[in-house]
Amino acid sequence: MSGNTYPPSAEFKKNAHVDQAKYDAMYAASVNDPEAFWKEQMTRLEWSKTPTKIKNTSFDYHNVSIKWFEDGELNVSVNCIDRHLATRGDQTAIIWESDDPNVDQHITYNELSEKVNKFANVLKGLGVGKGDRVVLYLPMIPEAAYAMLACTRIGAIHSIVFAGFSPEALAARVSGCDAKLIITADEAPRGGRNTPLKKNVDKAREHCGDVACLVVERTGADVGMSKHDHGYTALLNEASSECAPEPMNAEDELFILYTSGSTGAPKGVVHTTGGYLLYAALTHEVTFDYHDGDIYWCTADVGWVTGHSYIVYGPLANGATTLMFEGVPTYPDAGRFWAVCEKHKVNQFYTAPTALRALMGQGNSWVEKYDLSDLKVLGTVGEPINPEAWNWYNDVVGKGNCPIVDTWWQTETGGHMMTPLPGAHATKPGAAMKPFFGVQPVVLDPTAGTEIAETECEGVLCIADSWPGQMRTVYGDHERFVKTYFSDYKGYYFAGDGCRRDADGDYWITGRVDDVINVSGHRMGTAEVESALVAHAKVAEAAVVGYPHDIKGQGIYCYVTLMEGEEYTDELKTELRNWVRQEIGPIASPDLIQWAPGLPKTRSGKIMRRILRKIAENDYGALGDTSTLADPSVVDELIDNRMNK
Ligand code: WTA
Repeated sequence: MSGNTYPPSAEFKKNAHVDQAKYDAMYAASVNDPEAFWKEQMTRLEWSKTPTKIKNTSFDYHNVSIKWFEDGELNVSVNCIDRHLATRGDQTAIIWESDDPNVDQHITYNELSEKVNKFANVLKGLGVGKGDRVVLYLPMIPEAAYAMLACTRIGAIHSIVFAGFSPEALAARVSGCDAKLIITADEAPRGGRNTPLKKNVDKAREHCGDVACLVVERTGADVGMSKHDHGYTALLNEASSECAPEPMNAEDELFILYTSGSTGAPKGVVHTTGGYLLYAALTHEVTFDYHDGDIYWCTADVGWVTGHSYIVYGPLANGATTLMFEGVPTYPDAGRFWAVCEKHKVNQFYTAPTALRALMGQGNSWVEKYDLSDLKVLGTVGEPINPEAWNWYNDVVGKGNCPIVDTWWQTETGGHMMTPLPGAHATKPGAAMKPFFGVQPVVLDPTAGTEIAETECEGVLCIADSWPGQMRTVYGDHERFVKTYFSDYKGYYFAGDGCRRDADGDYWITGRVDDVINVSGHRMGTAEVESALVAHAKVAEAAVVGYPHDIKGQGIYCYVTLMEGEEYTDELKTELRNWVRQEIGPIASPDLIQWAPGLPKTRSGKIMRRILRKIAENDYGALGDTSTLADPSVVDELIDNRMNK
């Protein structure tokens, strides 16, 4: 690949955990003898029963089964808290930066221990036990981390629902895992506005029934408590600060996290205890070159996998200081990220390209106002980063001194799969570069399904063997797990992304090859938006595709056909936009709605999305063969419509 490369400085390399030679040796060891490699790595965790079996995994379509450390026992909260207390009880575990720039909090490991033990006893008091599911619907407040860890202490399985999801989406997730308890807050302040979380829970319960609810008093608003509701503070104050940790098998379920796919409703990705935690901890230390005493900040929300692995579990397992931010990048102004970096002397900063693009547009002065000299490593995640944003991050934020780790991974993978390591690799703007230890990427020919042997190539990205952080199943539907990830390309894990391998053997992620789109770094199934649209009484049919969007990466483009006799008006477009927000949440808000009196279909009735994507992209020259359409004139009509917008 032509273009500039950015090697780490000599000084950075000298202090890094992993340099080029060490990466090469460790990577080779990890794929040549995974058993030996992970047996050595597993000593990073504290096990109450040391595993004797390391890897027992099969990607065989007929028998997909993934087990790591299967006879080992451990407890996640012990690994994230108790084992640090003797050496770092007074060290800050969590820095909480509130939405209000004048409010923050430092929580030490001792304090974290007390809160989590008490919280665990509160859960027990509410009848929650090992194996029960608990839904968290919370703002980015320390109690979110306490709640996660309290679940792990007693062996309950958490399922976090991003606080931006609507009551309808929340209800589906509560029912989906048959949750025993919902933990929420009265309200969620973000960007100076309060989202009524508890009210949303009340609305959700109209659909999913009267599940008990624990309410954290974040703003103190009067939210009306029913007999199914419990106030957090009062219960916590009464609770004992000692709760014995439940010993968990390495393969016991740790959490469920719903994520979008090509088809159907979101699926519950299941992660288990031992492999996930080990993988999150190792990747956190190595990818960010985290050293004792560093201040680390990941700007994600705990409602997404990035928040699970890289705000809570990875950093706390490593005894790190992790920053949790309640607000948004542009409140009270576009300098907020950099103000927080300066205020808390942040060393590693991890965010999404969409945030960088939005901030880049506000001008450099917002960054230059602040002292960012503590920054050492910068990271990105969630979507491909365009070279312009990468260069801005490198030059303006990092002042050319901070390696950028562009980490490619997924909810399903638990942790980083491909990324440059900051002390080992000369980075390239937009490249995810190298596989992490134990990860065996292959590029397949999309039609033949065979591995492409040439170094320089482009195709479908698959993984040839298991790694400890891999999801184990889809909650309650193992068949769907097998079908989604192991049936298109037999013998491999199919990630759903395309990629390019350059002449140096470095990887570039080219984006999804399925019907998933990436909107502001949030993963969205076009099928979900379609089913929300057709649930509206006036809509007969809808087809949704992604299109390039300067800030969001991809925008949501909807083609809508109305029921016979309905009028195509601008008011109805607004109504449909609001409707989708209500059905799913603001993150699914359509960017563009195009009326489509007819949709391009094959004679067998299949919508030809390829054509719809091209029209949405304003790329009419490349529509390809339209002769198989039942009614080719539909395409001209859509193009006319598009041009007249
Ligand atoms: C995309 C987020 C390019 C990709 C951790 C993947 C990326 C999906 C990158 C997973 C990256 C994530 N470069 N694309 N560095 N990181 N993606 O499950 O399409 O929310 O399949 O996990 O995001 O999204 P998810």
